[in-house]
Amino acid sequence: MIEVTVNGQAHRLDADPDMPLLWALRDLVGLTGTKYGCGIAQCGACTVHVDGVPTRSCQTRLGDLAGRRVTTIEGLHPEGRHPVQVAWVEHQVPQCGFCQSGQIMTAAALLSETRRPTDADIDAAMAGHICRCGTYQRIRAAIHDAAAKA
Ligand code: FES
Ligand code: FES
Repeated sequence: MIEVTVNGQAHRLDADPDMPLLWALRDLVGLTGTKYGCGIAQCGACTVHVDGVPTRSCQTRLGDLAGRRVTTIEGLHPEGRHPVQVAWVEHQVPQCGFCQSGQIMTAAALLSETRRPTDADIDAAMAGHICRCGTYQRIRAAIHDAAAKA
């Protein structure tokens, strides 16, 4: 059994320690907001927070998470109204939406570290998040908006 805290709830998972966190979240915990894109830590779709740090769950071993705090898109805000989520809606950022939970998790972590990020801060933080729908400009605008209103 592996004990891991997800969105503030303790879970005891009967799983191989080598199972990627992404699989555990989706198949064992039932949280499907975190998406599988590439599986090799290259696209960012699977990003969650581990102890507040944006982390690619496709390449994170479940066995390495004992005592760690995992937050998924479902746990970012109890009503889905984290300032980043509100700005995402106002700017109509998502197109197909597949990459967006990962983008939002990284943007939220950026704002918790840097209250007024510059374009360069945003580009550095969001680098490596691939959006095949090309929503990059709206992502940047939404992050600036969330920062201004937070
Ligand atoms: S699915 Fe994890 S980075 Fe692409
Ligand atoms: S919104 Fe479609 S991949 Fe980003």
